[in-house]
Amino acid sequence: MAGKNEVDSHSGMETTGHEWDGIKELNTPLPRWWLWTFLATVVWAVGYMIAMPAVPLPGGFTKGVLGWSSRGTVAAELKEAAAAQQVWLDRIAATDLAGIEKDPELFNFAVAGGRSAFGVNCAQCHGSGAAGSKGYPNLNDDDWLWGGKLEDIQHSIAVGIRSTSPDTRNNVMAAYVKDGILTGAEVADVAEYVLSLSGRSTDAAAAERGKVTFGEQCVACHQEGGVGSRELGAPNLTDAVWLYGGTKADIIQTVSYGRAGVMPAWAGKLSPETIKMLTVYVHALGGGE
Ligand code: HEC
Ligand code: HEC
Repeated sequence: MAGKNEVDSHSGMETTGHEWDGIKELNTPLPRWWLWTFLATVVWAVGYMIAMPAVPLPGGFTKGVLGWSSRGTVAAELKEAAAAQQVWLDRIAATDLAGIEKDPELFNFAVAGGRSAFGVNCAQCHGSGAAGSKGYPNLNDDDWLWGGKLEDIQHSIAVGIRSTSPDTRNNVMAAYVKDGILTGAEVADVAEYVLSLSGRSTDAAAAERGKVTFGEQCVACHQEGGVGSRELGAPNLTDAVWLYGGTKADIIQTVSYGRAGVMPAWAGKLSPETIKMLTVYVHALGGGE
């Protein structure tokens, strides 16, 4: 283009000199500020691509000279969170169970930690709300097989019940019919007596006969009157709470064939701090003593 461009007489603006069939193009350049902003973004983009992970490649991507990665950030954050948690776990380790319950902050931490450990390790048997089911005791109520004090609960969790631990809580009721100790008829009578303990017997004569058998075979564990024994993990037979069902048929089944429920030992599998937090959590569910 030679010389100065023609000025359009109608708008008073310079033209670019381009012309198509007599139609001329006005020269309306972009505003400076827009152009500079645009150029700045181009420079920024190039710089960003060099500094940060940016370009996908087969089997990977350019890592960027700063070496940043979102995974690295997460790892750093997790490390920070673990360090913050460790402070609490150290306090749990250093405080006895009663002391944890007395310190509101520590108590909240323990209950939260216990709840999450319960969801992972215990809920499959005891239910997510620890309400239990047939054969798996409800941990919300104040009916305890082995005791509801903090130390009792901690011990049950640590060593288990009829578990493979050498220290396990252990007491096995015989399978009276299977082992040939009682006949089916004797068991039916003793079941009638057991029903009478919660006021549900319908056959007084059978219950009377069963009472004699109970005195010979059952009081050693279930005690006089069937009130049970926590040292022996023998359930109270006079209340409305039944681990294996309280109908006559359930009771006959239990006494004839035994049950021997198994609760795994958790010492060694879970840290002592986790077992403490689980203890505080279970104790706080409502039935703790
Ligand atoms: C494999 C199933 C199973 C798992 C998993 C399990 N339990 Fe148990 N738990 C049982 C059974 C069965 C009993 C009752 C045993 C008996 O007959 O005395 C029991 C009993 C208990 C008791 C004693 C209750 C009482 O009345 O004295 C406590 C406390 C307890 N469990 C807590 C836990 C905690 C906490 C966990 C998780 C760390 C857990 N259990 C995981 C099956 C299980
Ligand atoms: C060696 C101790 C021992 C003796 C003796 C014993 N029991 Fe038991 N009994 C237990 C234990 C421990 C349990 C807990 C259930 C288990 O085995 O998991 C139990 C559970 C029961 C239950 C189930 C309770 C429930 O909540 O579902 C009944 C019913 C029962 N026994 C009746 C009897 C009768 C009747 C006799 C006598 C013929 C007897 N027991 C003798 C220890 C004993």
